[in-house]
Amino acid sequence: MATNTLAKPPAQTCILVTGGAGFIGSHTVVELLNAGYSVVVLDDLSNSSAESLARVRQICDLPETGPGSERLQFVQASILDRDALDTTFAAHDISGIIHFAGFKAVGESVQKPWEYYWNNVAGTLVLVDVARQHGVKSIVFSSSATVYGDPDQVPITEMAEKHDATNPYGQTKSMLERILSDLYVGDPEWNVVLLRYFNPIGAHESGLIGEDPKGIPNNLVPYVAKVAVGKLPEVGVFGQDYPTPDGTGVRDYIHVVDLARGHVAAIDWMAGRVGTGCADDPYSLPGDAAPDGSRRGVGVFNLGTGRGSSVLDVVHAFERACGKEIPYVMKPRRAGDIAENYASCDKARTELGWVAEYDLDRMCEDSWRWQSNNPDGYAS
Ligand code: UFG
Repeated sequence: MATNTLAKPPAQTCILVTGGAGFIGSHTVVELLNAGYSVVVLDDLSNSSAESLARVRQICDLPETGPGSERLQFVQASILDRDALDTTFAAHDISGIIHFAGFKAVGESVQKPWEYYWNNVAGTLVLVDVARQHGVKSIVFSSSATVYGDPDQVPITEMAEKHDATNPYGQTKSMLERILSDLYVGDPEWNVVLLRYFNPIGAHESGLIGEDPKGIPNNLVPYVAKVAVGKLPEVGVFGQDYPTPDGTGVRDYIHVVDLARGHVAAIDWMAGRVGTGCADDPYSLPGDAAPDGSRRGVGVFNLGTGRGSSVLDVVHAFERACGKEIPYVMKPRRAGDIAENYASCDKARTELGWVAEYDLDRMCEDSWRWQSNNPDGYAS
């Protein structure tokens, strides 16, 4: 078996981060740099800004030029661009991939299914093909709790049955989980981690990077933040008759910095620095111990806090954070929404040694700092 390319100290390890200029990507780049890794970001900037990476340099005290600057490199390209990927792998000694690049708007995916399947699924097929040609077979994939659909019970463990996603975006996540798992079955040199995110919110404590949705936000916290900053008049609360304590939808909100650290933990797990493998999990394939002590297989982990918060809990936490009242009105349920989901995080804790540290108040404080310092996002 080939040597695990990740089984060496972070200072000698370069990670390709696709979609690294985006919300979760940019926060993950910060945590990778803080942990000593070098990073190549590949992003087509279709839904992100290169300014986020300039801010990452500021946070991590990396110069634009000269010694140390090379720890963060940027390639503007799509994951569908085979030549650009080939050039990137040839130019850098990449040891592993964290793959965020993808379209992510649930509603838009219903209108533009072809674009979602092409970009997300075909793009990933191109990415992993070029990667394997260059001997890189370690990938952390940005999956979603959406693969569970409407869960049979909460908290949701990784062993819970997957249900059909109600939209093409969710389908791409489920399909890519399958494709990446099958890659390992066909070639056990692959090393795959599927991270199922719950609801990432918050921002880096510096207020320099955060979520910058184009147009009117679809997701709750960016919407609430726009109301708080005076860009939108009021929050619509979608549904007040769910079987939840206050009748509004319950989700497991997780601070994006905690989520980002989960990715560093996944890289460390693949490198064999933490954890023991996933032999007890019928979905995960048990990792082979390689001669260098590293492992291969498919690791599946929920990244959440294990706590559910309602829409009104979020509105009130944001009010505390910004010191203003947030106007809201009750609206009908949004199509495709479920009543409640929150994660069981035991597996990530025991295997990856990772737990989420920040609570909802901290998430809202950091979101507010980002939003109030950057009312127009990176454009300001
Ligand atoms: N909500 C409102 N008003 C809004 C927006 C949302 O009341 O303006 C409510 C929703 O009905 C839901 C909760 O706030 O109860 C959270 O909604 P989000 O849109 O913020 O998040 P979702 O849970 O719907 O979706 C998120 C990600 C998806 C991912 C899914 C997985 O955005 O990418 O979690 O569970 F697929």
